[in-house]
Amino acid sequence: MPENDKTAERQEKSDSHENHENSELHENHETIERRENAELREKSERHQAAENGEAPAPRKKQFDSRTFRDKPVSFVRRGGRMTPSQERAWQDLSSRYVLELPRGHAATSVAADVRVDPVTLFGREAPLIVEVGSGQGHAIVHAATERPDCDFLAIEVFRAGLARTMIRAEWAAIDNLKLVEANAPEVLEQALPEGSVDELWVFFADPWAKTKHTKRRLISQDFARIAAQALRPGGVLRLATDWQDYADHMVTVMDAAPDFERDFAGEWAPRFEGRVLTAFEQKGIKKGRDIRDLAYRRLSGPTSR
Ligand SMILES: C[S@@+](CC[C@H](N)C(=O)[O-])C[C@H]1O[C@@H](n2cnc3c(N)ncnc32)[C@H](O)[C@@H]1O
Repeated sequence: MPENDKTAERQEKSDSHENHENSELHENHETIERRENAELREKSERHQAAENGEAPAPRKKQFDSRTFRDKPVSFVRRGGRMTPSQERAWQDLSSRYVLELPRGHAATSVAADVRVDPVTLFGREAPLIVEVGSGQGHAIVHAATERPDCDFLAIEVFRAGLARTMIRAEWAAIDNLKLVEANAPEVLEQALPEGSVDELWVFFADPWAKTKHTKRRLISQDFARIAAQALRPGGVLRLATDWQDYADHMVTVMDAAPDFERDFAGEWAPRFEGRVLTAFEQKGIKKGRDIRDLAYRRLSGPTSR
């Protein structure tokens, strides 16, 4: 690779993590904050009306015109520019790596009738490992390189992260990896065949730490249902987080999920050795947080839904 490309890569690496962590995310959080404050105001007005014995105003519609969805999504779309090398990767490498899906109303949605056949997609029958929120692709590119006998699907809404993942994949010269730019629950629920996934990974999902934001957390009862549908019986959902409150929430949700059993003894699973250290994990460690791993096995038999 020419030296100026390497410099651009280095710059981009530090920039993209900064952006990812700070400005764009912060800006979007402010927008969310405004909307959620309006929701809280509406709730308190309704409460006040009830206390005064007045008929409450009709509830405002739940459909969110910004996301085109009726349930909260676990991400904020970052509108930030891609660097020149990311743009180049998108142009040159997406035909090799990116699976383009027909959309619904939202840019990150998946049209209701889309079906993806993994055997056609990868041109072979092999165990399928799916990572939700693959970020810049550190974990999945490493795993795809180490395990050429498996196929890997990265689902991410962060376009610059997907571009970085393609750059890494090309360096590693791997072809057992495909990427989808979409809201992961929709891909898992609508596009992938039931029971087609051998392992599902969610590493360092956005913790949505404020109480009023916890409804945005990816790991929820609904996600457990969707994961059970996508996983084959005996397939494993692997989770990792540096956020203790989210880890506790994950245990509560997954212990109660009717289609899963714990795949670890003791309080937490051992660190999943197939996971490389990403910037998010490093940051958690630096801040003195415990890294929590969890693994849940999909029970045999049909799902309970
Ligand atoms: C905190 S980052 C962690 C990235 C990576 N797993 C790592 O450890 O470096 C979480 C990522 O999940 C992505 N994400 C969140 N919700 C998602 C969803 N519903 N569908 C696809 N990606 C999502 C975000 O865009 C973000 O890149």
